[in-house]
Amino acid sequence: MISKKTIKKILSVSCIEDIIGDFVELKKSGLNYRGLSPFSNEKTPSFIVSPIKKIWKDFSSGKGGNIITFLMEHEHFTYVESLHYLAKKYNIQIEYIEKFSKSKIDIDHEENEKLYLIQDYAKRFFINQLFFTKEGQKNGFNYLTQKRGFNMKIIHKFELGYAPLSWSFFTNKALEKGFKIRYLKKSGFTVSRKYYNNDCFRQRVMFPIHNLSGKVIGFGGRSIDSSYSCSTTKYINSSESDIFQKGKILYGLFQAKRNILKEDLCYLVEGYTDVLSLHQSGIKNVVSSSGISLTVDQILLIKKFTKNIVLFYDGDSSGIKASLRGINMILEQGMNLRILFISNGEDPDSISKKYSRSRLRYFLVKSSYNFVSFKQKIYGKFHKDDPIKKSFFVLNILNSISKISNLLQKELYLQEASKILRIRQEILIHELEKINKKNEQKIHKIQVIKDKKNNQTPLILILEEKLIQLILNYGDKIIEKEKCNTTVLEEILHAFKYWNLRFSSKKNKVIFDKICLQKGGTGSSNLKSDTDDKGEKNFYPLSKWDKKGIKVPSQEDHIYQYIIDIILKYKSLCISKLIKKEIIHHNITKNDDRKYFLKKIIDLTNIKNELHKKLHRYV
Ligand code: CTP
Ligand code: MN
Repeated sequence: MISKKTIKKILSVSCIEDIIGDFVELKKSGLNYRGLSPFSNEKTPSFIVSPIKKIWKDFSSGKGGNIITFLMEHEHFTYVESLHYLAKKYNIQIEYIEKFSKSKIDIDHEENEKLYLIQDYAKRFFINQLFFTKEGQKNGFNYLTQKRGFNMKIIHKFELGYAPLSWSFFTNKALEKGFKIRYLKKSGFTVSRKYYNNDCFRQRVMFPIHNLSGKVIGFGGRSIDSSYSCSTTKYINSSESDIFQKGKILYGLFQAKRNILKEDLCYLVEGYTDVLSLHQSGIKNVVSSSGISLTVDQILLIKKFTKNIVLFYDGDSSGIKASLRGINMILEQGMNLRILFISNGEDPDSISKKYSRSRLRYFLVKSSYNFVSFKQKIYGKFHKDDPIKKSFFVLNILNSISKISNLLQKELYLQEASKILRIRQEILIHELEKINKKNEQKIHKIQVIKDKKNNQTPLILILEEKLIQLILNYGDKIIEKEKCNTTVLEEILHAFKYWNLRFSSKKNKVIFDKICLQKGGTGSSNLKSDTDDKGEKNFYPLSKWDKKGIKVPSQEDHIYQYIIDIILKYKSLCISKLIKKEIIHHNITKNDDRKYFLKKIIDLTNIKNELHKKLHRYV
């Protein structure tokens, strides 16, 4: 943990106008500084920094705070990352305080720190190889610049590097530096063969993958050999570790985030090289799901920066399939979506090389479609004169529309679909309602299964079991009361009748009914004679319950209090259930008299409170 003293020092030394000035152009205005809001696209500056108060306020977005909150908002740093950033900037030594015992979180944190350090070392090692070794120049640098056409700016910006051909050069250097073999393996740089530790990345150009704060968390390594088809794979990626989970990161987001905010739009491409090429061509709001199929986590990551997403996948069939697969996922997260349609054989890399900067922008706008017309472009030709096929296609589109939660957009997409499919809107709406109903049923089913899983044995069932046990084992036990004596069974029966209680489990209800039947509902005879009756095979002798491991209460002397306690708890649960039911019923029908409804709830709650009071007396 960073010590309080260090935090104080960092905050007092930091100069707010300098730090913010690195991100926003500030102009002096009286005692304050003023600039254009970095959180919105404004023309007149409403972003104010007060050096005296050490605070900032952005009047266009309503955000504001101190220097730490600025870094958290603008750079999406965590609190600790912000402190580190400032400490580094002002050369402040960070003091940590040791806690008395290390918690699991601390240990995990230390483990992760080691992994980050190795990744950082590797990044510097690979960069060094690329620029300052013969092999790196000849194989890596030439490949990147000549073959792929990347310029120095991009190579630096994305911190590209080169992993040499040698079997274990990197591993040996890292071991010399003091990194432990366990962590090298864990990070996916080294693999142990019988007697050797081999490097995993060999003769590859290296693409470091950064997290949101710019730390390297893994690598993708591309073979420079164009005949990679047989012996080498085109790309090798770092293995997943605690700091690197492919499904939760997006390649290029660190370099793109500010541009995504500025343009309020994010292009999503398939590959590392697509990101780089587009950047080089001036399209800087671009990220890649680096070869894995898009995950919900990745969509939500983009949503932190913008709600507008453009799918820009390869023009081959796998790219189109990936686009189609992404549509519903993206719509479900409430994002606005457009999809680029490019010809087979093209990809963002080739497209960005094909056009000049300005024509590229024009091409991107011209070639992007909403999902309805995109689907029409893909499937249209297949159902031309086949009504059955077309009907499935219509359902496919309606299914996507059903994922949109924004009503206005839903309506507009319905209009669009009606136009493109040439089907009357009423028909589409009718079918959409059917789909909605089906979806609701699905959700309901899943919910029921979830509920069952979550409360495998709800308290109410446990109490019912206990009551049954009491009846079976102590049903005939006399309870001495002031006025007249009763038995355990009578006491329970009375409570059930008086409160109109019913068992919720069928099994318990059957047992209870049987007992009541035997009693003939008179509530006078005793149970012992029944249990002793060997002719009654259906009955439940005490020993069997014991064998099943169900505990029977041992304090027979306190049995009366014990029973009352359980009955009270049971009643209280029943009433809670009743209250819930009333509320749900009221919400659904809505035509109940509100006053009457409220009175009912208040009455029930009062009874419940009374019960609780009593319960505490007995506990
Ligand atoms: N990928 C991977 N492993 C592979 C192939 C691909 O991890 N064996 C991932 C990489 O992140 C790659 C992306 O999938 O960037 C897209 O694959 P592909 O289109 O084949 O590669 P490109 O990025 O287009 O690479 P290049 O331009 O060098 O062919
Ligand atoms: Mn590609």
